[in-house]
Amino acid sequence: MAKTYKNIVILTGAGISAESGLATFRSENGLWNNHKVEDVATIEAYWKNPDYVHDFYNQMRPELMVAKPNKAHLALTELQDKYPSKINIITQNVDTLHEKAGNKNVWHIHGQINQIVCMNCGHVFETWGDISSEDVCPQCGIAAMLKPNIVFFGENLLYMDKVEKLLQTCDLFISVGTSGVVYPAAGFVQVAKFAGADTIEVNLEETSNNYLFDRHIYGKAGEVLPHLVQELIKQKEEA
Ligand code: OAD
Repeated sequence: MAKTYKNIVILTGAGISAESGLATFRSENGLWNNHKVEDVATIEAYWKNPDYVHDFYNQMRPELMVAKPNKAHLALTELQDKYPSKINIITQNVDTLHEKAGNKNVWHIHGQINQIVCMNCGHVFETWGDISSEDVCPQCGIAAMLKPNIVFFGENLLYMDKVEKLLQTCDLFISVGTSGVVYPAAGFVQVAKFAGADTIEVNLEETSNNYLFDRHIYGKAGEVLPHLVQELIKQKEEA
């Protein structure tokens, strides 16, 4: 069917990075099966034991620094190159594989592993190195206030004003590789649907909120997303 979308929003989760060798959160060997969320990903844990939290993200950084984008990320690059509409990517992932693949308009609502934020002055800076509670903010000079710029449970998501506007004006919403259990991201499909968007879910398996999507494509993102991208490009060319 020939169809042209004007404003596409793509929500991504850990599943899109799985074929790059990165662990998802809730799979058998997932990060949350080996660590307690409340020990490493809550704002209370950070204030209680900052160095324990720093260690967790310090250990993660080298792996994410060298990780390479896979066919799913590259398919999104092709979509953005060949489908001249507004295409925004809202990611829950803290890795930088979208950027490494050349994706544009990427909104890291859960933050980025290679960014640090000062809890005193709000300064954000980039590093792939280790951080400890003794480090000093390069902007305000205060020690013991640096935190990975990752949104912990108990904190507000980033870029939400922008994201709300994107969701309320999109005509196609595609979710890729997310289990749909962490809100508010799990509810984005409802906002898009309410705005009249077509909704497509791309995931390895059925998710708990799959009933909210018009269409489901099950399989590895690196295998099925390139086909969806070709289908969209073809539909646009024929429209
Ligand atoms: P999850 O680990 O909850 O879900 C990953 C989803 O990807 C699952 O539904 C898998 O079936 C699917 N999946 C796995 N491999 C795949 C593949 N090759 N292709 C397609 N799908 C695949 O991860 P998220 O939904 O991203 O938050 O988790 C959401 C948030 O929970 C994370 O951003 C993180 C976590 O707490 C923070 O750290 C703030």
